Amino acid sequence: MQMDPIFSDDENSEALAPGSTLLGGQFTIQRYLSSGGFGITYLATDSLNRTVVIKECYPEAFCARVNKSVRARTSSYQSDFESIVSLFVREARSLAKLNHSGVVGVHQVFEDNETAYMALDLIEGRDLLTIIEENDRSLTPTQVVAMTLDLLDAVDHVHSQDLLHRDISPDNILVEYSGRPVLIDFGAAREEASRKSRVLSSVLVVKDGYSPQEFYLAGSQQFPCSDLYALAATLSHLISGEAPPNSQARLAALASSQPDLYTPLRGRFPDYDDCFLSAIDKAMSIVPAKRLQSAKDWAALIDPSRRADQAVETTSIDAAIEKTITSLVQTVNSEIAPVEAPKSRASLLKPQVVSEPVRERPPVEIIPSLAEIRAEMEAWKRIHPHDQHDPDAGVFDIEAPSIVLFPHAWPAATRLAAVSVIVLAGFIFGHVTLANSAPPTGAAPPVLSSNYQNQENAKSIPD
Ligand SMILES: Nc1ncnc2c1ncn2[C@@H]1O[C@H](COP(=O)(O)OP(=O)(O)O)[C@@H](O)[C@H]1O
Ligand SMILES: [Mg+2]
Repeated sequence: MQMDPIFSDDENSEALAPGSTLLGGQFTIQRYLSSGGFGITYLATDSLNRTVVIKECYPEAFCARVNKSVRARTSSYQSDFESIVSLFVREARSLAKLNHSGVVGVHQVFEDNETAYMALDLIEGRDLLTIIEENDRSLTPTQVVAMTLDLLDAVDHVHSQDLLHRDISPDNILVEYSGRPVLIDFGAAREEASRKSRVLSSVLVVKDGYSPQEFYLAGSQQFPCSDLYALAATLSHLISGEAPPNSQARLAALASSQPDLYTPLRGRFPDYDDCFLSAIDKAMSIVPAKRLQSAKDWAALIDPSRRADQAVETTSIDAAIEKTITSLVQTVNSEIAPVEAPKSRASLLKPQVVSEPVRERPPVEIIPSLAEIRAEMEAWKRIHPHDQHDPDAGVFDIEAPSIVLFPHAWPAATRLAAVSVIVLAGFIFGHVTLANSAPPTGAAPPVLSSNYQNQENAKSIPD
């Protein structure tokens, strides 16, 4: 019977040797590729003789190979080793759910040799670190911009699945021969492992120059913009050829009011648009709150066509809010329809008019719908051209496309809240009016002091 060879000859004495099989012969190791302290990467073939990449969970500080099996180095490492293996499996499973051309495909996760493995699509190309180190001038600014947008798409996809990459750096981006970049080597399992115990924190992956300062603090919060910092640092290295400064050193300089160790790209590389360079500089802010917060925002900043897409998206959100408001208004209208309502629409608008006297406007029967308010205001504007307030003055903006009463500067959600308050007030008023209009004793109803008071009530004011 032929035995699997156990160790490869020279490159890594702990790696599986070429010809070793996994998962009952489904995969055959062709050769060792690299090891990164947490795992060993191999080139392999699958049962259909396709070339794949296999990653073996091998946290070398905690384990050793005994024949083909991977075991904890000592019994005191047993539970740490086991928890790293289970984190590896869990992360591989969540990566397997990602389906994006800019993220390496995971097509199998399995356990063997008392550790875990994932089988990845083979990406044919070079890693970005090699490209940078070879000072490859064939990469034009146009290609760098295109690559940036592809990477932002990929990162956005990862974030949209509530995952972080956590180890974006030039060596973890493979650039296919077509020029398309692909993210590999997610570091989230390592980060989670490091949080489990102090011993495990020795496998914490922090890459000087690329990791944002929050990654150096065990247990600190990490955000999508943490990945964006690392991506910006990677791009800064690619564009300037200089490795970015350590973020901890930058933080220390900031804390002692020293100049930032990072030299902004903006203005230094005339082949690139300043807007493109500023976006990288912003994403590399030391303080997370000052960074670009999402890959989508970043892409929209540098790509006008995406800006248009985002505007359409925002408009449709506004339209949805407007629809909700319209139906709210209609519901309240139907609730208070039997109540005698104010005769003057000006009274409805009054809370928004700070210093203007109330002007005569067409009478209304009930609280108007949004479309009615808009039509009414348009007509009123034509009749009273001098009554239009400067929208920039923030008093009220009758030009606003979605909700006529409020300034453009207010976000849609704020406008929704404000309209809801007005509608609620109208609703309460309607009920108060209803109660007041039918006094049980037949006595004159009490005088209402607001502008909603109608003619009937006005007649009943005692002298
Ligand atoms: N899917 C892949 N296709 C091609 N090469 C890969 C792939 N995954 C990893 N590699 C190669 O193996 C190297 C190490 O892989 P990586 O996943 O980054 O592990 P680590 O950095 O932990 O050693 C990469 O730099 C790359 O050269
Ligand atoms: Mg790597």
